[in-house]
Amino acid sequence: MSEVARVVSARGELVLRRREDDGALELRVNGVFVMDDRETSSEELLASAALASVRRPDRVLVGGLGLGYTVCALLADARLGSVVVAEIEPDLVAWMRSGLVPSVLDDPRVSVSLGDVRDVVTATPDASLDAILLDVDNGPDFLVYNENSAIYSSSFLTVCRSKLRTGGVLTVWSSSASDALASAVTSVFGACQVTPVPVTLQGRDETYYVYQGSFSTG
Ligand SMILES: C[S@@+](CC[C@H](N)C(=O)[O-])C[C@H]1O[C@@H](n2cnc3c(N)ncnc32)[C@H](O)[C@@H]1O
Repeated sequence: MSEVARVVSARGELVLRRREDDGALELRVNGVFVMDDRETSSEELLASAALASVRRPDRVLVGGLGLGYTVCALLADARLGSVVVAEIEPDLVAWMRSGLVPSVLDDPRVSVSLGDVRDVVTATPDASLDAILLDVDNGPDFLVYNENSAIYSSSFLTVCRSKLRTGGVLTVWSSSASDALASAVTSVFGACQVTPVPVTLQGRDETYYVYQGSFSTG
C-alpha cells in the first residue's frame, strides 16, 4: 500500500492511498474505508436512478465529492444543466484540482460549495433543484462522522424536499439496508424506492443500497 496524500484536519485524518495488489486508489477517513476507484457502480447508480426518475435534470445538488464518480455519471447526461457539489473537506477538492485524483471539476456545469451539505442545502432557495443526491457517509448505521446522522433524519429530508421542484427526486446512498432510512424517506415523500446494488469489493460480495423519494404534488 503506498500513500498518495494525507491530511489531518479538525474532523480527522483523510488518506488517499494506492493498493499494491490491484493498483486501486482508495480513500480512507479516520482509518475507515470510504471507497475506491475499482467498484464504483453504486456511486454511479445513485446518479442514474435520479436521472431516470427526474423530469428534467436542470439543476442538481450532490452531497459528497469523494472520488467524483456520482458527478461523472451526472455529467454524462447531456440534459444536465448544472451540478453543485457540497463537500466538507477542502483538501479533497484540492487533490482533485491538482490532478492527484482524476478531475470532474473542469466541466463548466460543475461548481463546488465547500461546507457541510446540511448548510449548503439549507441555504439553497426553495423549489430550485431537480435532484438532490446524498452520499456523504457510509449510511445511517455505519457513520464515519457521527454528526452526519442528522442527514438521514426526516427533519433534514423535509428541508431537502422543500428545495425540490415538483417532479424532483432525492436519492440517498447507504452501505447497508436501513428500515429507519426507508421510513424517514416514506414519511417525507409518501413512498420510498429501495434499490439493492450487488457489488464485489476486493473479492468479497456485498450489497449497497440506494433510497429514493420523489416530490410530486399530486
Ligand atoms: C463516500 S464519499 C462520496 C463518494 C462519491 N459519491 C463518489 O462517487 O465518489 C463521501 C464524501 O462526502 C464528504 N462528506 C462527509 N460528510 C460531509 C458533509 N456533512 N457534508 C459534505 N460533504 C461531506 C466526504 O469528505 C467525502 O468526500
